[in-house]
Amino acid sequence: MKIITKEDVKNYKYPYDFVNKIICGNCLDLIKLIPDGEIDCIITDPPYGLNKNGIKNDADYCPEGGVRSPIGRTKYMSCFLFRKGNPRLIQRKTDIYKDTPGKMVEPDEGFINHPTPKPKHFIKQIIEMTTLERDLILDPFIGSGSTAVASKQLNRKFIGFEIQEKYCRLANERLARIK
Ligand SMILES: C[S@@+](CC[C@H](N)C(=O)[O-])C[C@H]1O[C@@H](n2cnc3c(N)ncnc32)[C@H](O)[C@@H]1O
Repeated sequence: MKIITKEDVKNYKYPYDFVNKIICGNCLDLIKLIPDGEIDCIITDPPYGLNKNGIKNDADYCPEGGVRSPIGRTKYMSCFLFRKGNPRLIQRKTDIYKDTPGKMVEPDEGFINHPTPKPKHFIKQIIEMTTLERDLILDPFIGSGSTAVASKQLNRKFIGFEIQEKYCRLANERLARIK
């Protein structure tokens, strides 16, 4: 798998090159190729070095799964949710947060080799709360692929963008293991 350049991206066609795919490249370029109105929901946690000056990568900002913040090193992780139309809760959940046994371990997959993988359990709860089967979910910062794996397991369509080739490969390996 190679990093897609701005030139390559021009040849990408929606939906064939996008839906149910991990696309290696810069989300700021790739997102422009998705027609308006296609995405039902965006679920993402952007890199922790994101600010008005641009995007820095997690490897610099979040080496131990903690986050540098104005109050020091914290252990929270952010998750942003955007829903098309008039958002409403499809399923109500009372306790959506359950930590994984280790910060980079999924109970059914083992070690996830990314600095900040999100627990699939958590992503799945969000998906069930806010989307219907076959809805299209975009994660422009897909990292290790948790949103894609959770979407596939819950019969939702997904699009995942990721700038680092090694994480694109990891996400695809995780997806390939799902029956
Ligand atoms: C906080 S992590 C996402 C972790 C993910 N939720 C998971 O479960 O593995 C943010 C990811 O965004 C990627 N990233 C950074 N800048 C990017 C860009 N411009 N376009 C696409 N991906 C980018 C980083 O390489 C990193 O893997």
